[in-house]
Amino acid sequence: MKVRLRLEPVGRTIEVEPGTPLRDVLFGYGVEFPCGGRGRCRRCRVRLLEGASEPSSEEAGILSQAELSAGWRLACRMTAATGLTLEIAQWETSILAGDAKFEFTPREGLGVAVDLGTTTLVAQLVDLRTANVMAVRTALNPQAAHGGADVMSRVQYALTGEGRAELRDIIRAEIGGMVAGMLVEAAHGRAPSLITVVGNTVMHHLFCGVDVAPLASVPFEPRNDGPKRFRPAELGWDLPADTEVRFLTCLGGFVGSDILAGIMATKLDESDALIGLIDLGTNGEIVFGTRERIVCASTAAGPAFEGGRISCGMRAATGAISEVSLDGGNLVCSVIGQGQARGICGSGLVDAVACGLELGRIQPGGKLSGGPLGLSSSLSLTQADVREVQLAKGAIAAGARILLKRLGAEMGDVRRLYLAGAFGNYINRESARRIGLIEFPPEVVEPAGNTALSGAKLALFEAEPANLRVEHVPLAADPEFLDTYVASMPFHRAGTA
Ligand code: FES
Repeated sequence: MKVRLRLEPVGRTIEVEPGTPLRDVLFGYGVEFPCGGRGRCRRCRVRLLEGASEPSSEEAGILSQAELSAGWRLACRMTAATGLTLEIAQWETSILAGDAKFEFTPREGLGVAVDLGTTTLVAQLVDLRTANVMAVRTALNPQAAHGGADVMSRVQYALTGEGRAELRDIIRAEIGGMVAGMLVEAAHGRAPSLITVVGNTVMHHLFCGVDVAPLASVPFEPRNDGPKRFRPAELGWDLPADTEVRFLTCLGGFVGSDILAGIMATKLDESDALIGLIDLGTNGEIVFGTRERIVCASTAAGPAFEGGRISCGMRAATGAISEVSLDGGNLVCSVIGQGQARGICGSGLVDAVACGLELGRIQPGGKLSGGPLGLSSSLSLTQADVREVQLAKGAIAAGARILLKRLGAEMGDVRRLYLAGAFGNYINRESARRIGLIEFPPEVVEPAGNTALSGAKLALFEAEPANLRVEHVPLAADPEFLDTYVASMPFHRAGTA
């Protein structure tokens, strides 16, 4: 006899076999498992509204007595033993697709472009005669429920026993399902001739079944042997044998084909003027260059801008404070979905720190005075949160400074700086400049949407740029990195440091 689970506020009832781990079913409803279900991060919290589930010792250790009494539990520690009604706090995560227009040479047939992100997946079915998008699928990356939220956790998990095959099979099955769903919806019996996939180096290795061991230690160099090509049967996909699945080439270190796609989408490699591209995720990926020379780096910005390691942090989903402004001396917060604030996401965090600086509550050195910075009746930023922001923004700013120096250029030489990804799309440019995260004049900074997906779409029409040479700069090995990093951590208003 199956067990019924009622999920609120989404209002869904599902039936599962008794003893099913909740991790296996709730991920599909937006509950995330950032520590891979190890009971360490608290981010998979759900609240029991009806039914009983005795807290495990891990739950008792990491949740307060007040939280336990209020019904809070860790989904990663629970199984479906009896019927339950659960409030799931994380739902409706918005995932940035991509509808940027581009020039193309029409071809016959259909193509599929896939952006395989550490956190999110986006796929588009494209009519190759018109470049029109016929169907879209988005999903959270299901590897996260097993291998943790960040790339290094996935690498560690892939190094254990069956982990590598498990993560490979999970992601291939998920993307195969997304492709199949789009074909049923919009292809009228036709199949794609080409499927292009882009992603960071770890996603590349896991999808392609490549050993991740070289990514686990210095010098973190991937296996770089050009685009990987597959036939559908190799991936377990039910598509015609002549469909080609192509994972684009990694550039080096943790800079993957998502950035190659970004270079293609922004035409950075064809530009006479100096152009930059920054993808602000857990790994800040940074590129600067012209048609003459391109340098790139990845910088371990940490998960702060995705809500990680922030006491009230969360991803940009319903209930997240996404904007903070000042009204007189008061902070005014905008919440995604306009309901009660449940936490703060990256764009809100940058705003909140900028406001704290304006109010004098946060000193340029990062000291928070007068106690936690209140955001709502129940949410506030702590001193430790402010330090996390410093670490993250210092890593990005230092990476940009070092790459420019490699090119013999200065910030004023940059004619356009594209910000890729969801965070880059929604971040307030003035706030980013105020805290010294993006130290470029606002007029050169341009949100560029999901450049990884745009480039993957472009790759349906044209080959990867021939002879594209991108110098990968391993920041950790750069003798100036540490000093530059430390110098980049204070919250100086950009242009005044
Ligand atoms: S505590 Fe981290 S996923 Fe449950």
